[in-house]
Amino acid sequence: MTSPGATIQRDSEGRLQHLITLEGLTRDEITGLLDLAEFYVRPPGELPARDQSLAGRTVANLFFEPSTRTRVSFEIAARRLGADVVNLDMQTSSRAKGETVLDTIYTLQAMHADILVMRDAEPGLPAFVAQHVAPHVCILNAGEAHLSHPTQGLLDALTVRQVKGDFSDLRILIAGDIAHSRVARSAWQVFTTLGAREVRIAAPDDLMPAADEFPGASRYTSLDEAIEGVDVVMTLRIQRERMKRALFPDERTYHHEFGITAARMRKAKPDAIVMHPGPMNRDVEISSEVADGPQSVIQRQVTNGVAVRMAVLATMVRNVQARRRL
Ligand code: NCD
Repeated sequence: MTSPGATIQRDSEGRLQHLITLEGLTRDEITGLLDLAEFYVRPPGELPARDQSLAGRTVANLFFEPSTRTRVSFEIAARRLGADVVNLDMQTSSRAKGETVLDTIYTLQAMHADILVMRDAEPGLPAFVAQHVAPHVCILNAGEAHLSHPTQGLLDALTVRQVKGDFSDLRILIAGDIAHSRVARSAWQVFTTLGAREVRIAAPDDLMPAADEFPGASRYTSLDEAIEGVDVVMTLRIQRERMKRALFPDERTYHHEFGITAARMRKAKPDAIVMHPGPMNRDVEISSEVADGPQSVIQRQVTNGVAVRMAVLATMVRNVQARRRL
């Protein structure tokens, strides 16, 4: 079943007006975004890429859940494209005084904020808001409950593509707290669309998603079996904030059963890469030795995050301009 966001995010011409989910994006659309992101990537030590694609635009960051990487990288990306940026402090914003999210959005819209970057724990909120904004306004989902984190999926795909090239030979493992992870859902979507040979998900029983989710993925409850021969290992934080009750014994036991350690990495392909979206709980889902080791591309993911968000912002503005010309 198609989620409402997949339909709502497109305008009447089929162009993306919002980015709510990676669901329904074609391989060409994803490749186009990754190619543009690649154009914005610069090696560490060089000056970052800049242009004026967003000159005169205002980007508002509305994060109702904690964020370091995603919020800062949206801000840096928008500034490097010449936009004005405002960051709402949600602790002190009017929503804390009972204002509805829509009233907050209308207020920002009235101030000419035209790109609204949102993170929230409520499923469906980005799609709901997208249905109520003016046609020139764009909603970018920066993390929706456990459901969707499209720019994270894109930066993960860019990172894999840079190191491994074509997806058709790749076996990719996503391991850990899959049930509560929007990162896992968006990553699975993009890897599948790009034609990965196999996507495996590995989680303890209690952290495994429902049977109708992740269609086509191979499921494992043993990490030692799942990691055998894979090209990519992505691990995830345990999302305690989304659990209604404790779903795993304790951190030591979890690390023993589901931690990515150097010993486990020896079962993957010798040139396998290790990914983590951050924030990491060191020596819980990943050992420090692996996180900081030669197979880790975790810092590269962060660098790519800025480039991907520049590509998404520039594409959305281009689409608004195309709509205006009609
Ligand atoms: C993740 C998120 O918030 O979904 N982090 C991120 O955006 N890089 C993952 C997490 O919180 O564990």
